[in-house]
Amino acid sequence: MNPQGIVLSGGPCSVFDEGAPQLDAAFLEMTRSDGSPTPVLGICYGLQAMARLEGGEVAPAERREFGRAHLHIDDAAGLFQGVPDGSIVWMSHGDHLTRLPSNYRVIAHTGNAPIAAVASDRLPHYGVQFHPEVVHTAAGRLLIENFAMGICGCRGDWTRASFVDEKKREIRETVGDAHVILGLSGGVDSSVAAVLLHEAIGDRLTCIYVNNGVLRKGEWEEVQAVFRDHFHLRLKAVDATDLFLDRLADVSDPEKKRKIIGNAFVEVFDRAAHEIAEEAGDRPAFLAQGTLYPDVIESVSFKGPSATIKTHHNVGGLPEKLDFEVIEPFRELFKDEVREIGRLLGLPELIVGRHPFPGPGLAVRIVGPVTRESLAILREADAIFIEELRLSGLYDTVWQAFAVLLPVQTVGVMGDERTYENVCALRAVTSVDGMTADWARLPDDFLAHVSNRIVNEIRGVNRAVYDISSKPPATIEWE
Ligand code: XMP
Repeated sequence: MNPQGIVLSGGPCSVFDEGAPQLDAAFLEMTRSDGSPTPVLGICYGLQAMARLEGGEVAPAERREFGRAHLHIDDAAGLFQGVPDGSIVWMSHGDHLTRLPSNYRVIAHTGNAPIAAVASDRLPHYGVQFHPEVVHTAAGRLLIENFAMGICGCRGDWTRASFVDEKKREIRETVGDAHVILGLSGGVDSSVAAVLLHEAIGDRLTCIYVNNGVLRKGEWEEVQAVFRDHFHLRLKAVDATDLFLDRLADVSDPEKKRKIIGNAFVEVFDRAAHEIAEEAGDRPAFLAQGTLYPDVIESVSFKGPSATIKTHHNVGGLPEKLDFEVIEPFRELFKDEVREIGRLLGLPELIVGRHPFPGPGLAVRIVGPVTRESLAILREADAIFIEELRLSGLYDTVWQAFAVLLPVQTVGVMGDERTYENVCALRAVTSVDGMTADWARLPDDFLAHVSNRIVNEIRGVNRAVYDISSKPPATIEWE
């Protein structure tokens, strides 16, 4: 592959775990086509794996270090060029480096970690104990830029327009005269994928839009209006509400819900694909999906399912079961990049600016069994929250906001009556990629207003609470 540089990422394992991924020493001796040594940046686990090979010592920390720390820079050249001393970095590790390999020196430390960043004296090898790739590390982006551009000599010449042209050409080449189907959810990713493919191959794309019974208020109608009436895409809309809800009856375990929804989706989708094939007299050979890079990372693990955080049904399932070749134009992109591409392709802001919505929909926002009644309550609560966010101009300031219905009843009072009804949780987070997130500091008055409306307007809810946990350690969805 002749890379310009190598980043050894962090990971969920400890280097001491059985079967933990180990680094082949050859990676540390690589040279580039001009004969210069290949630069390496090890992050957290990557640093530990690299340092061990080089003769350093890694040990479990007494206490797992998690959260913010101030970085004190001992050598500002190279990796830390322009990074302010004392800037915030995000730590998340159980093991740490306790002895440097020979020829390595410390280039930064924190109050808790005497070895927070290292550099080799011999080769362009660097390591950081903290996570520059998360937004909470203030100068993380600059640090990665310093490594990629300054140390590795890469250029930043990726543009949206060049991406769109390249992908359209690639799609045409791959697809030839064949037909493609795409599972449209109305979310940003599949919507942008649909329009990109439509531009590339026109009516040889057919989108299948399934009502899985766990969509938000008004969504089923809105999505059809946008894609069929506005974009004139070939759209097959299948209302399978009863099938999904019947199968979800009495199921509380979130992973089971995901599997049921995933399997039912495959069935419904398969049937729809067959119908399309009969109508067109030609079996679609390709399946396009709006899979993003974070879906890929969170759904795969180096070894077995142990570190799979959640089974995102849009990644697994469909391709294996349906025997299609898969087209995933955004597999290496993050959501903000896909939004940019959507804008370039002329998608309305209502779609590109839309908050992410999980494939298993409201089923993972009802803690406990999903019923038609609980869905009706949650839809109303969610709609009020979103409507108020839009009205107050706050919608675009958060990554995602939604309501969650808890299987907990508490006492309330309405008029002179005692009530015993459900708790509704409101969740709003800020994030750039959904991989880490912080709870959004929404104004008190706004939250008070939303709470009032929900508790007063919705029968079945007498209490609203606001979630103040960050990811990690919490996740965005409650499940
Ligand atoms: P978590 O809850 O894992 O969510 O912190 C991270 C982001 O992913 C979304 N999410 C999903 N998106 N299919 C999707 O397309 C899914 O199965 C799924 N599960 C979670 C979640 O809404 C958040 O934006």
